[in-house]
Amino acid sequence: MKTCLVTGGLGFIGTNFIKYIAAHRKDIAITNVDSVTYAANPCNIDEKSTPHYKFYKVDIANNDELGDVFRENKIDYVVNFAAESHVDRSILNPSLFVKTNIEGTLNLLKLSLEYKIEKFLQISTDEVYGSLGEDGLFTEITPLSPRSPYSASKASADMLVMSFFHTFGLPVLITRCSNNYGPYQFPEKLIPLTIINALTGKDIPLYGDGKNIRDWIYVADHIRGVLDVLEQGRFGEIYNIGGCGEMQNIDIISLILKKLNKPLSLIKYVKDRAGHDRRYAMDFSKITKELGFTPELNLNDGLDSTISWYLENEDWWKKIISGDYRNYYKTMYEMR
Ligand code: NAD
Ligand code: DAU
Repeated sequence: MKTCLVTGGLGFIGTNFIKYIAAHRKDIAITNVDSVTYAANPCNIDEKSTPHYKFYKVDIANNDELGDVFRENKIDYVVNFAAESHVDRSILNPSLFVKTNIEGTLNLLKLSLEYKIEKFLQISTDEVYGSLGEDGLFTEITPLSPRSPYSASKASADMLVMSFFHTFGLPVLITRCSNNYGPYQFPEKLIPLTIINALTGKDIPLYGDGKNIRDWIYVADHIRGVLDVLEQGRFGEIYNIGGCGEMQNIDIISLILKKLNKPLSLIKYVKDRAGHDRRYAMDFSKITKELGFTPELNLNDGLDSTISWYLENEDWWKKIISGDYRNYYKTMYEMR
C-alpha cells in the first residue's frame, strides 16, 4: 500500500479526491493536511468511515508542524491541493496567497526532498497562462503570464516545483486544469453562487459585460486526470487538463436559471473584477495522447448532477451562508 499525503483535503477538489480514493483504491492510504481555512469543511470527510485515513490540522506554511507530519508517517506521494484559491480574495489580500501558495509549496518541496518521497504532484491551474482573446488555446508551452495575485502565486509555485526537479532531481509532476464545478464547492465560486442565490431568491452578480469565457470541467473528471498523471505521468512534465466546456458567463448563469425554473431577471450586471481574464481554453492533447485521458461528463449533464447535489445537500451550504460568508458577501458585493 502507498501512502499519499494530500494537502487541502477538506476543500472542494481535495474532498472529492479523497472520497474517490476511499471508494475505489484500497491500495492507497491518505494522510490529509489542511489548516481548515474558511474554504474547508471538516464534516466533508467522516474519519471513522474512511479507511486508511489520517487527518492533521496543519498549515503548510508552518515548516515545523509540517515536518512532524513527514516524520510521523512514511509518505510515498505528495499531492498538493492546498491553496488560497479565490481570485477576488487575492485582490483583497495578496499576502496570504504568497504565504500559502508559494511558501507553503516550498516547505512541501523541501520536506519531500529530505524524506525522499517517490512522487510530488503540484495541482496548478490554467490561470497561470493569463488571458486569451477570441482565438487560440493554452498549451503546456504557452508562456506564463499570470495577471492576478492568485495566478501569480500559483505560477511562482510551479516554477519552484520545476526548479526542484532540475536542481535537486525531485520527481515532480504538474497538472494545470480549467474551471472545476461539482459537489462540495464553496459558494463564493460562480456556479454554486448562482445555484444558491437562485434558490434563495437573491440577485446573481455578473461581472462586466458577462461575456468572459471559462472552460468548465466536472470535478470527477479532473480527479481522474490527476490520478492518471500521478500514476503514469513522466517526471518533470506539465499536463493540461481541460473539460471541452467553454461557455460565456452570461450563458452558463442563464442555463442554470432555466434548469431551476427561475427568472433571468435575477441576473444583475455589476462592476467588473479588476484585471478580469477574458477567456481560458485548453489544449489538453498531451494528456490524451500520453495517458489516454478525456473528460467524460459534458457540461449539460455535469450541471444537472451538480444542481441535484446542491438541492439534496441544503444543510451543507445553509450552514456556510449563515456564517462568516455573510460578511464576505457584503464586502464583495454590497457596494459593487
Ligand atoms: P478550495 O479553496 O476549495 O480548498 C482549499 C483547501 O486548502 C481548503 O480546505 C483550505 O482549508 C486548505 N488550505 C488553504 N490554505 C492552507 C494552508 N496554508 N495549509 C493547509 N491547508 C490550507 O480550493 P479548490 O477549489 O479545492 O482548489 C484546490 C486546488 O486546485 C488549488 O491548488 C487550486 O489552485 C487548484 N485548482 C482549482 C480549480 C478550481 O476550479 N477550483 C481549477 C484548477 C486548479
Ligand atoms: O481556471 C481555473 C480557476 O478557476 C482556478 O484556478 C481557481 O481556483 C477558481 O477559483 C476558478 O477561477 P475563476 O476566477 O475563473 O472562477 P470564479 O468562479 O471566481 O469566476 C468564474 C467567472 O465568473 C469569472 O469570469 C468571474 C465571473 N464571476 C464570478 C463571480 C464569483 C461573476 O461574473 N460573478 C461572480 O459573482
